[in-house]
Amino acid sequence: MIADEDALGWESTAAADAYRGRDMRLAEALIFPAVLERLAGSSGPGRLALDIGCGTGAVAALLAGTGAWTVQGLDPSADMLDIARADRPHPRVSYRLFDGRGLDWLADASVDAAVCCLVYCTDPDDDRLAGLTAEIRRVLRPGAPYVLADLNPAATGVAFSTLRNGEPDTVYGDGDTVATRLRLRDGSTMTSTTYYRSLDRYRSLLTGAGFPSPDVDLPTLPADGSANGAPAETGTAPYMILTTHA
Ligand SMILES: C[S@@+](CC[C@H](N)C(=O)[O-])C[C@H]1O[C@@H](n2cnc3c(N)ncnc32)[C@H](O)[C@@H]1O
Repeated sequence: MIADEDALGWESTAAADAYRGRDMRLAEALIFPAVLERLAGSSGPGRLALDIGCGTGAVAALLAGTGAWTVQGLDPSADMLDIARADRPHPRVSYRLFDGRGLDWLADASVDAAVCCLVYCTDPDDDRLAGLTAEIRRVLRPGAPYVLADLNPAATGVAFSTLRNGEPDTVYGDGDTVATRLRLRDGSTMTSTTYYRSLDRYRSLLTGAGFPSPDVDLPTLPADGSANGAPAETGTAPYMILTTHA
């Protein structure tokens, strides 16, 4: 077990500094292609996408790099945004501090797509997430996609190549605190605090905000046939990708 006091809270400067050096291979292979695919039908020059909880800006830069999106990257952590501005500046991305709930500078039905990647798991406050989800629904144009990618709640305790979310042989319930270990590029590990929510809880956050029940994808990597044993991510999905539309 990891003691709570050893795990980093996401609002801390230490979490932002450590997260800057995370090993992104699994997210790049399993989340990023799915995000691009789900948004492809809505893209076009000048179209506006939100990267909500953009952290260090990886998804915002990915979307802007396609040439098909103007992006607002939004986060309540000034430390994360400082890193995003330094590491991933882009002429079509603006990074903005917000309170994690309200999108009051955006008019109703003025946004063409929204992505929220590995964010709900870091916020303990269900009311704030319910408010944020309702705001996302408000600002999206009718029919615009909302892609919510997060840790797969059915994969707690599984040792993936770059992460382990919680302890093996432990059953978690909605609201439980989970210690999540992330591999960093230098081979060390950061341990952060996340909050367990079941897939049903995610579904009800979306439907409670007026979205239709989402499509659920659980992507895995193909086995490469290596003799050393297949990594866990070839059999179990580390992440879930929920896609719905306003
Ligand atoms: C694990 S990081 C993910 C960052 C980025 N989306 C990525 O995939 O690399 C979680 C981020 O969510 C932000 N966050 C936490 N609660 C939030 C909320 N209610 N609304 C928006 N962002 C939030 C944190 O400040 C942090 O930057």
